[in-house]
Amino acid sequence: MEGHVKAYQLETFNNVEGIILRERDEPHCGPTDILVRVRAASLNRRDAMILDRSYPLPARPNVVPLSDGVGEVVAVGGNVTRFKPGDRVTGSYFARWRDGRISPDLIDQLGCTLDGMLAEYILMDEQWAVDVPEHLSREEAATLTCAGVTAWSAVANSGAAMPGNTVLTLGTGGVSLYAIQFAKMFGCRVIAATSRNEKADRLRALGADEVINHAATPDWGNRVRELTAGLGADLVVETIGPDTLEQSLIAASLYGQIVLLITRGGKASRIEIDGSAWSSSLASIRRVFVGSRADLEGMNRAIAAHKLRPVIDRVFPFGDAHEAYRHFMRGDVFGKVVIAGA
Ligand SMILES: NC(=O)c1ccc[n+]([C@@H]2O[C@H](COP(=O)([O-])OP(=O)(O)OC[C@H]3O[C@@H](n4cnc5c(N)ncnc54)[C@H](OP(=O)(O)O)[C@@H]3O)[C@@H](O)[C@H]2O)c1
Repeated sequence: MEGHVKAYQLETFNNVEGIILRERDEPHCGPTDILVRVRAASLNRRDAMILDRSYPLPARPNVVPLSDGVGEVVAVGGNVTRFKPGDRVTGSYFARWRDGRISPDLIDQLGCTLDGMLAEYILMDEQWAVDVPEHLSREEAATLTCAGVTAWSAVANSGAAMPGNTVLTLGTGGVSLYAIQFAKMFGCRVIAATSRNEKADRLRALGADEVINHAATPDWGNRVRELTAGLGADLVVETIGPDTLEQSLIAASLYGQIVLLITRGGKASRIEIDGSAWSSSLASIRRVFVGSRADLEGMNRAIAAHKLRPVIDRVFPFGDAHEAYRHFMRGDVFGKVVIAGA
């Protein structure tokens, strides 16, 4: 390390050029810290939102971006009991939220209010980290923290992901692709909606039983009902909204569940739903904000047991982080955009 390490810092907003590669002093472990050599990190929609300041939680000045990443423990503090040098770990999205319900004192997030993974090294309290499944490559293991846990919370914690039940996913972002894989893991039938026909074959290859082009089928909620013998989807993983929520409600079964994940909003944003859609439905809307460390651990156990492999779109070298952000923000991706270090 020779006294200095490299890390990107979010110094100014609205442009990837504001994320600047700097040399920082070599980090040293406090009694409960682990020092991790980061091998790969990945991008999520929240990282673009943090950059353009539309994310609900403001970033700390000069924070190291990205919640998702993986690396090896290279040093541990004197009181550390959970890890040893050589262990391969990732971080938990809400670093301090271990289990149960989140509360306002637990909202610190890696890559937002705490330094994240876009660096050669990250210093974490040992309680912020978890082991990753052994069968995953470093690129795959770098995608678990945000999109993975969000999809896990949406599907596994719904009570609706039972064999033979129908799960509807929207779009082909990281959350939706994980949701398809988890829904199939639970034996569900998956209907995947995308705006792009060219993604249909890849969605089917991932496990989708039916694919709908929701851009070409404005009343796609009724198309979902047709595909389910009039019953509707038991679980809708709503990742687009707010303007898709009316169709999601039409698509949902009588006592269906819509997991509303969108975090865009603000005063100008309103959700309008025609009375004919909601008056005939007993569906519930559930909100999810990623998940706890226990959710991440539970998901990792399931991924290991099923040898599930996350979908990777493209891998960029550490020095090309700006190009990785640009590629991700252009939006024509299928799977996770990863930045891999040395
Ligand atoms: N609440 C939470 O805990 C939580 C956690 C993570 C993410 N999220 C939210 O979940 C959403 C998905 O996140 P993500 O990272 O998986 O993916 P993402 O990159 O935001 O979504 C990408 C895909 O969604 C579809 N899409 C996006 N915007 C659209 C629009 N305006 N109209 C139509 N289709 C659109 C497109 O799919 P096609 O090209 O296939 O049409 C696109 O490829 C985001 O809103 C994100 O903020 C919430």
